[in-house]
Amino acid sequence: MTTHPYTLRIQRNRKGPDGRLTTMWQEFTVQATPTTTILTLLEEIKGEKDGTLTFRQSCRSAICGSCAMKIGGRTRLACKTHIGSVARQGVVEIAPQANQPVLKDLAIDIGPFFARIHQIRPFLEDGPDTDAVLEKSAYDQVNHVTQCILCGSCYSDCVMAEVSPEFIGPAALAKAFRFVSDPREGQKVRRLEALSLPHMMWTCARCAMCVESCPKDVKPMEAIVKLRTRGIAKGLDAGPGPKHALAFHQDIQEAGSLNEFTLMMRTVGLLGTLEELGTAFHLLKKGKVPSPIPHKSQGVAELAKIYEILEEHPLDVETKAKEVVPE
Ligand code: FES
Repeated sequence: MTTHPYTLRIQRNRKGPDGRLTTMWQEFTVQATPTTTILTLLEEIKGEKDGTLTFRQSCRSAICGSCAMKIGGRTRLACKTHIGSVARQGVVEIAPQANQPVLKDLAIDIGPFFARIHQIRPFLEDGPDTDAVLEKSAYDQVNHVTQCILCGSCYSDCVMAEVSPEFIGPAALAKAFRFVSDPREGQKVRRLEALSLPHMMWTCARCAMCVESCPKDVKPMEAIVKLRTRGIAKGLDAGPGPKHALAFHQDIQEAGSLNEFTLMMRTVGLLGTLEELGTAFHLLKKGKVPSPIPHKSQGVAELAKIYEILEEHPLDVETKAKEVVPE
């Protein structure tokens, strides 16, 4: 295959004696075919141009998760990404994962990410259901989430992790779903209670970046939505997150559109709404306050029928299969 010149614009990060990180960009031009992987090119640069370039890699087969880094603005596995698919006018930018502490160049400290995984207690816990049988359908659901290779791509691209560093993140929540959805798990309700606390499942803004960036198609956001549904079903509906979701549900079911005028009051209550009066006045000045008169959409009766059917036969929206919900 014909080779072309490509420029890799690599972020170099160095810690000084005071522990402060200095960042600069360095360009390397290499000759490669469009199907050459970014990892191959990084190794070539390290071997032939600059031996100090630091990055993680191990399996070269999209299995170990070590080589996840920002490539062309999104977090991807360097060993799975072809230069031709990400270079624009022959140039691609490479940086370490975001939302994680950088150690050197493209290598991050993976400790905080794994601490989040440990936080959800990633093992089956004893309880009354310990001896339950794992049927095939439940196994398929559990197995889908266990495809996660803990590369951290979802956490790196997560917009909520960026604004709220205490957020436990999509990978840990997908892992939590693996246990909550396992019929043999003995502490499902205790887990859901822990997941209902601040910075856990209700912090997700459902931006779907984790679904986009996951190299194994785990779809963490869908696991988060299922966790939330199960939490509400168990009566864990006290915080602003579940109240917001229930208000959405009620409006769409009854009127086919949101009543944004009362949404905040129903989500955070009177006190929370009063705290946001400044924002309300700002919106008022810009003419953006929604109408207090609720709007009823056409075809609401049809929508109500869809709700009825879904409530009677809950579907896994992704697989269109009946969702397995252990007691
Ligand atoms: S080197 Fe193991 S996933 Fe890329």
